[in-house]
Parts: sequence; structure tokens; C-alpha cells
Amino acid sequence: MVRKLCFLTSTLGMKYLMGASGLIWVGFVMAHMLGNLLLFVSAEAYNVYGHNLTSGNIIYLVEGALIFSLSAHVIQGILLTLKNRKAKGTQYHVQAAGNKKTPWASRTMIFHGTIILFFVIYHLITFKFGTYYSVIINGTEMRDLYRLVVEVFSNPVYVVGYAICLLLLTAHLSHGVASMFQSFGFNNRAHDKKIRMVGLVYAFIVGGGFLIQPIYVYFLN
Ligand code: HEM
Repeated sequence: MVRKLCFLTSTLGMKYLMGASGLIWVGFVMAHMLGNLLLFVSAEAYNVYGHNLTSGNIIYLVEGALIFSLSAHVIQGILLTLKNRKAKGTQYHVQAAGNKKTPWASRTMIFHGTIILFFVIYHLITFKFGTYYSVIINGTEMRDLYRLVVEVFSNPVYVVGYAICLLLLTAHLSHGVASMFQSFGFNNRAHDKKIRMVGLVYAFIVGGGFLIQPIYVYFLN
């Protein structure tokens, strides 16, 4: 038991936990982004999708997993940053130059991570716990989330705020996904470039897929 606890608080154990908790959110953001694309199909399709998602009991399991993994991710992220800073403070630290320079996204994980955390809280207040408009589709009463989304993104302040947060999410994911692979042992130097590319492509698909939604609503709806 004590050994297990020591492993979890070791740098390697922390990286595993960060990777595992990150993986749940990596899957969630992709699923959330893809589901939200129904915004481009019709108000009906968007609302029926939201209604079906929240009608069953599985949603409680998903929400539980999201809350648990986000809490673990935040705590481990803070501990890992403190540990790294302490380690740097005790060494003669030289900033690498040229190609070997650590990428911006990697050096600033704690910064965009914190902003994304506040973004998620504000996002839940806006949408999940926001105004309840109701609509009847095929005889079933359900939440008119489409109306709420259109109302929120008609406000330029929200559109700009979302755009900034989504760019930071893209940066966070690009490094996060690559380092998740490394945490799980795919840290072979030969595959380093490919892993970084996977992280980058994934981040751009998710970030870009989300970003076009407020822009579409603001300019075209
Ligand atoms: C343009 C981008 C986005 C739009 C239009 C959007 C829309 C929504 C809406 C309408 C809901 C409420 C669903 C419901 O109550 O049935 C929701 C929930 C949620 N969103 Fe987003 N979202 C966006 C981006 C994001 C991002 C980037 C994240 C995370 C980094 C995120 C995380 C969440 C979470 C955790 C929930 C609650 C899920 C649940 O409890 O079932 N969303 N979103």
C-alpha cells in the first residue's frame, strides 16, 4: 500500500496519472466537438441529440468520470509543476537553444491549463446551468439548447472569449496528447516527431472543430 502511494507521488507515477486523467478528457472533447457539429445540420437535430444524451443514466457515469479525472489532473498538474520548479532550482539550469528549445506550449501547460479550468466552469454556468428554454419536437418536450447557443454566440464578447480559450485549448492538447503517449511508454526517440505530429493534428481538429461553431453562429445565423 505504502509502495503504491510512493509510486503515485513519484514523478513517473504522477505522469501516469496525468496521462490517464488526460485521456478521459481527450476522448470527451473530441466526442463533444463532433456531437456539437449537429449545430450545422438543424436546430432539431441539435436538440434531439442533447435530449438523448441527457435522458439516460449513462450521463451520470460520464459526469462522474469527468469530475474525478479533472480533479486528479488539476492536483497532479500543480504537484508536477511544483516538483519540476524545485528540481530546476537545485540544478545549474541552461535554457537550450535552437531546435532543442522547449516548445512554448510545453513550458506553459500550467498557464493554459488554469485558464481552461476557469473556462470549463464558466462554460457549465452558461450552458448546462444556463437559461432553460423548452421546445416540443415530435410530441416530446425537451430543452432548446440550440436557442441558448445562438443567443450566447450572438454576443461578440463571448465569441472573442471562446476563440481565445479554444486557441489555448489547442495549445494545451497539442502538448498534452504528445506527452500522454510518452507517459504511457511511447518515448522512443525515433517516434518523437510522429508523436508530436499526432498531438498537433488532434489538437487542431478539436480546437478548429469547436472554433468554427461560435464563428458560424455569429456571422451566419
Ligand atoms: C464552441 C464550443 C462549445 C459549444 C457550443 C459547447 C456547447 C455545450 C452545451 C450546449 C452544453 C450543455 C449540454 C447539456 O446540458 O445537455 C455543454 C456541456 C459541456 N461542455 Fe461544452 N461546448 C463547447 C466547448 C466545450 C469545450 C472546449 C469543453 C472542454 C474543454 C466543453 C466541456 C463541456 C462539459 C464538461 C459539459 C458538461 C457535460 C455534461 O455534464 O454532460 N465544452 N457544452
